[in-house]
Amino acid sequence: MTKRQIRKLKKISLLIIILIIIVAILFFLIKLLLPKNNSLNDYSEEALNVIEKEDLDKISKYDYSKTLEVILENNLYNANYLEDYINITYVNQEDFPEKVNKYLEKGYQSNEINNIFKLSLKNQEKLENLTKQKDFSKYLEFANFDINNLERYEKYQKENADKSLDKIVTYVNLNLDKEFYTDTERIENPDEITTLINKYHYVDKDFVPKDLVTLFDSKNGAKMVRVAAEAYQKFIEGAKKDGITLESTTAYRSYSFQNTLYTNYVAEDGQKKADTYSARPGTSEHQLGLAVDLNDPNVSGARLDDKDFKWVKENSYKYGFILRYLEEFVPITGYMEEPWHIRYLGVELATKVYNSGLTYDEYYDLYIKEY
Ligand code: DAL
Ligand code: ZN
Repeated sequence: MTKRQIRKLKKISLLIIILIIIVAILFFLIKLLLPKNNSLNDYSEEALNVIEKEDLDKISKYDYSKTLEVILENNLYNANYLEDYINITYVNQEDFPEKVNKYLEKGYQSNEINNIFKLSLKNQEKLENLTKQKDFSKYLEFANFDINNLERYEKYQKENADKSLDKIVTYVNLNLDKEFYTDTERIENPDEITTLINKYHYVDKDFVPKDLVTLFDSKNGAKMVRVAAEAYQKFIEGAKKDGITLESTTAYRSYSFQNTLYTNYVAEDGQKKADTYSARPGTSEHQLGLAVDLNDPNVSGARLDDKDFKWVKENSYKYGFILRYLEEFVPITGYMEEPWHIRYLGVELATKVYNSGLTYDEYYDLYIKEY
C-alpha cells in the first residue's frame, strides 16, 4: 500500500467512526425526546378492558408492569396506587394482587412491599395481622427472622451492640433476651429425634418416649430410644477400636427421677448453682431417651480423662451423637461443660451440627424450626 492509500484509509475510518457517533447521539436524542413507546400494547386485553379512558392515558406514560397487569386483571385497580403498582416487583405467589392492595392500605411503601414479598409465607401472614411495622429490611437476609420478635430484636441489639445481627435474631428467637425458664413452651412432638429441649422448652410430666430399650452395656437397666441405643453400641465399639474404654451410667430418666435428682441438688447447692448442672424436671434431654452419660471405668476421680474427652469431641458425630454442653456454649445452654453427656441426633444431623460449630439450640433455630 502506498502512503497515499494509507492516508485515504485512515480518513475513511475516521469518517465512519464519526458517523457512528453521530448516529448514536441522534438515536438517544430521539429516544429521549419522542414520547415513549406506548406501553399499553404490552398489557393483556383482559387488563385493558377494566380501566377508564383517563386511567389508560396515565398508565401509558409508564413502562409495562406485570404487577399492574395482574391488579387490573383481578379488577383490583385503585388509581391512588398507580405509581406503587409500577414499582412493586411481581411475585408469582397466590393472592399476590390482593396482598399488594392490603399492604398498600396498611401504609407500606412500594420498596417495603417488595421486601415483604421476600419474607416466608408464615411471616407474611403474621405481618398481615399487625399494624404497620418499622423498617425491617435489614433482617430480611435471615431465614429465621420472625416478624413477631421485631421489637425484641431492636431492644436486644441496643443492649448487645457487640453482637452481629444474625446472632441477635437467633438469640432472641431462642428467648435468650429473657431469663432462663421464662415463658417456657410445651414441646408438642417430643418423640421426634430432632426435638430441642432446653431451659425454655419442656415436656409433660407423664411423657415417656416410645420404644425404649436397655443399653447393651448397662449394669443398671439404662435405656434409650431404640435408634439411639443401637447407635450407642456402635459408638462404644468404635471407641474401643481406638483404645478408648467408655461405658454408660444413666440414659433415659423419667420426670420423677429427674425431679428427685434436681431437688437433691438444690438442697445441697442451692437453686442457682444446681441450675448450672442439672436440668429442672421436664427439661432434660434424658427424659427424651436421647441422651446418655459416659464414664471411663479406668479413670478415678472423674468420669472421663482428657484423652477420652478429645476422642468423644472428635468422633461422636460419626455415630450420630453431639456433645450438647461445651464450655463455649455456656451462655446459650446455661449449663456448665459436660464432656460426658452426649445426645443422639442421627449421623446426618449430628454431622451438620458438629460442622456448624453451633449449639444445637442455635442450629435448631436456624435450620430446623420453620419460620
Ligand atoms: N445434666 C443435664 C443438663 C441434665 O440434667 O439433663
Ligand atoms: Zn447427661
